[in-house]
Amino acid sequence: MSLRVSTSLARLSVEPLPSIETDLLVVPIFEGETRAPIDGLDGAAAGEISRALASGEAAGRPFELFFTPLVRDWKARRVALAGAGKAQTYDLERLRRLATAAALAARQRRLTRIAFVLRRPDRGPVGFTDPQAAQAVAEGLMAGAYNAGLYKTADRGGPPPTDLVVAAHAADSAGALAAAVERGAVLGESVNIAKHLCDEPSNVLTPRVFADRAAAIARDAGLSVQILDEQAIAQMRMGLLLGVARGSAEPPRVIVLRHDPPSAPAAPVLGLVGKGITFDTGGISIKPADGMERMKDDMAGGAAVICAMRAISLLGAPIRVVAVVPTTENMPGGRAIKPGDVLTGASGKTVEVINTDAEGRLILGDGLWYAQELGATHLVDVATLTGACVVALGKAASGLFGTPDDWRDLVEQTALTAGDRCWPLPLYDEYTDQIRSDVADIMNSGGRPAGACTAAMFLKEFAGDRSWCHLDIAGTAWAEDGKPYLAKGATGVAVRTLAELAFSADRYPAVPAGSIQ
Ligand code: BES
Ligand code: MN
Ligand code: ZN
Repeated sequence: MSLRVSTSLARLSVEPLPSIETDLLVVPIFEGETRAPIDGLDGAAAGEISRALASGEAAGRPFELFFTPLVRDWKARRVALAGAGKAQTYDLERLRRLATAAALAARQRRLTRIAFVLRRPDRGPVGFTDPQAAQAVAEGLMAGAYNAGLYKTADRGGPPPTDLVVAAHAADSAGALAAAVERGAVLGESVNIAKHLCDEPSNVLTPRVFADRAAAIARDAGLSVQILDEQAIAQMRMGLLLGVARGSAEPPRVIVLRHDPPSAPAAPVLGLVGKGITFDTGGISIKPADGMERMKDDMAGGAAVICAMRAISLLGAPIRVVAVVPTTENMPGGRAIKPGDVLTGASGKTVEVINTDAEGRLILGDGLWYAQELGATHLVDVATLTGACVVALGKAASGLFGTPDDWRDLVEQTALTAGDRCWPLPLYDEYTDQIRSDVADIMNSGGRPAGACTAAMFLKEFAGDRSWCHLDIAGTAWAEDGKPYLAKGATGVAVRTLAELAFSADRYPAVPAGSIQ
């Protein structure tokens, strides 16, 4: 039996493994395993599997792949033993990455049909369910469907996959597994769309084009869409966004998306806010030339929010969700803001601009305010916000800030399960001293010490009394060098986390009485 997801490449199969027609059957093996993992497989591979296990050629080391043809009986053309590492430390993220590693390797070999066999270690507990495993594998395989090199006229790194199969033996739970594969496929597709937006160069993806693309993605997914142009933005008095936009010839936009299921309760309302800087030169506080091309992905937070909304709508999240993505270039034009200038945001707060390169927090200030205007009770913003966060955590984790603690803990837990690793950083009151201004309410830079924390503290000023979290994805939005399980380039970080968060409203902290109109 094979259950195909209507919208995507991925499907569940509960057929006997020998009957699966595919180019590559992927079978996880754990370190220390000495026997062929599946009955009949070794015979179909003419003994190659037991030989490779005995010699140590296939030893189960993380993400190592051993390929061999299947020469008789089985319908799959070849098998890959895929190193799943030590059984004791096996988790959902290892599995997701293993599926990606297999998909990327298959693509290099020009194999377009892959079937990944769900398999647990023989001994010891595993901290996830079969449907969670099926979803993670679908998510991981979908990463192999992404085409980087958008503007290459030849050699695009092998043809994209045509058939991605999650193979399970448990026919009794086929319904739950098929739903999980579909969920993983929708999330994986949404991640790939986010990567695409990030990979687009800034001469193509201007704020207006970003807004048009977001509107098309959102409408296709059944969301309601509103795009604020420069007049509407001025009417809202979003002076922080307008201030950043002044240096550019391209006008700013605010992308507003809504997921409003008719049966959803009035509260909670999840509010997602994403940084949409389509290029960050630094403005008058201009950045050094070296590596500046990377700043085309300074809208990665906005892309994550838009693509999470797509998944939220397609998967039918049971609560209301609003998304706000302010988008502009940060350029040093003749009308650009200058250090010492004072801006007034839509909330009425005044900001002294110390450094025009601290532009993300400015546009997010107006974005956070607007999400509350639209009724958000629980806020999450996502931004490639600070180099300081990259210094603190490197590329291994996003920085997580938030209040109250139980909201932050929920976002952390959700991110961990979703495969977007993040690590909590503090919001001490002392950091406010660093952003106190002599002329205005606050200033937009707290200098070098604790730069990620003072940036978060700035955002907190605009979160009112709502539950609020901030994810600093400056280090995680872009993979500088490829790994077996991670392609070089945009990563689509935070898409899955934000989408999954819309499905755990039963765990949101209570809305303080009287705080919401
Ligand atoms: N977009 C950058 C942050 C960034 C840096 C993202 C490296 C990805 C990689 C942000 O707008 C920025 O320039 N931040 C400044 C803030 C400073 C001027 C207070 C920074 O981190 O240097
Ligand atoms: Mn900047
Ligand atoms: Zn920036």
